[in-house]
Amino acid sequence: MYKAKVAGVGHYVPENIVSNNDLAQLMDTDDEWIRERTGIEERRWVKEGDGNTAATMGIKAAQMAITQAGLEPNDIGHIVFATISPDYYFPGCGVQVQEALGIHTAGATDVRNACSGFIYALSVGNAFVKTGMYEHVLVVASELQSPFLDKTTRGRGVSVIFGDGAGAVVLSKASAKEGGIKSCHLHSEGKHKEELTMKGFGTQHWIGALLEKGVNPDIHFPKMNGNFVFKNAVVRFGEVIKEALDKNGITPDQIDCLIPHQANLRIAQFIQKRMGLRDDQVFNNIQKYGNTTGASIAIALSEAVQTGAVKRGDLVCLAAFGAGFTWGSVLMEY
Ligand code: UT7
Repeated sequence: MYKAKVAGVGHYVPENIVSNNDLAQLMDTDDEWIRERTGIEERRWVKEGDGNTAATMGIKAAQMAITQAGLEPNDIGHIVFATISPDYYFPGCGVQVQEALGIHTAGATDVRNACSGFIYALSVGNAFVKTGMYEHVLVVASELQSPFLDKTTRGRGVSVIFGDGAGAVVLSKASAKEGGIKSCHLHSEGKHKEELTMKGFGTQHWIGALLEKGVNPDIHFPKMNGNFVFKNAVVRFGEVIKEALDKNGITPDQIDCLIPHQANLRIAQFIQKRMGLRDDQVFNNIQKYGNTTGASIAIALSEAVQTGAVKRGDLVCLAAFGAGFTWGSVLMEY
């Protein structure tokens, strides 16, 4: 078995900044409620006609990651793309990256694990590199969510949280001396599938119903039982981070940087407190970008590297929880 390391990181977010006060113009909400309950101050939402899609944002993040890894697009052996907001119902966004970057017929896998999407995609890429199947795997996570949110007061419990953006990493085979990914841990619990969902456009709610009845807010907008998701999130985040630490004989004080999925700042703070981590051991950027679902950890990792919060050799723990429910963690030496 080989070992995979993160050789390069990248991210891209749309230019259009939407503040909490901007949202208060659209629905009955206010800056104080959003900051207090979620920690979010602003988010990026695509603007009609700005050319941003899940694929195009992912391509920009991917280009940055490939450049940072010191590679050419054609060094990439496989593309793994995580999104729940693909440009097309099918094919997936992975092939759009392949085409845009001119990567000769490399395989492209799409992952649809919502908030855990990047962790699942990273685990797939890690397995490819570990087994020696590929030397370099591009892992992209991108979400274009804002056009599909219910931006009326009816949808305020969901729509104020989410944002758009993309992140990417290149995973490469590590040398014996280098660190890299130590372990990946993935879980799911489908009995909670209805607690955070968007059912419309699935084949159970097919086009006939849409044409007959028009858009049904119960199935065509994301729905979330916020309290229930929150309570499960804090438990599962804690468990899956512990699982990664225990597996590698690591104690919380040894972690240089924990990057939790940016679901809600209160969730991250709860985990930080329970694990006894200092502020400088946890990286959050939800304040600026909101919850970008599958892309959030990839964006945060890239920004953490860019700002020096994560340096080569640092012990980094990534952890996610979301729709499904699915959750997971990755422990690595960056
Ligand atoms: O990323 C995937 C995983 N997702 C998560 O982990 C998210 C987990 N859940 C959460 O982060 C929180 O549950 C939310 C931020 C979504 C909601 O916060 P909450 O503290 O659980 O609020 P709530 O849903 O219990 O609502 C409390 C009150 C309600 O009013 P009443 O019934 O008490 O009069 C809501 O109608 O706040 C009201 N409310 C709002 N008020 C102003 C809900 N959304 C808003 C809003 N602005 N945007």
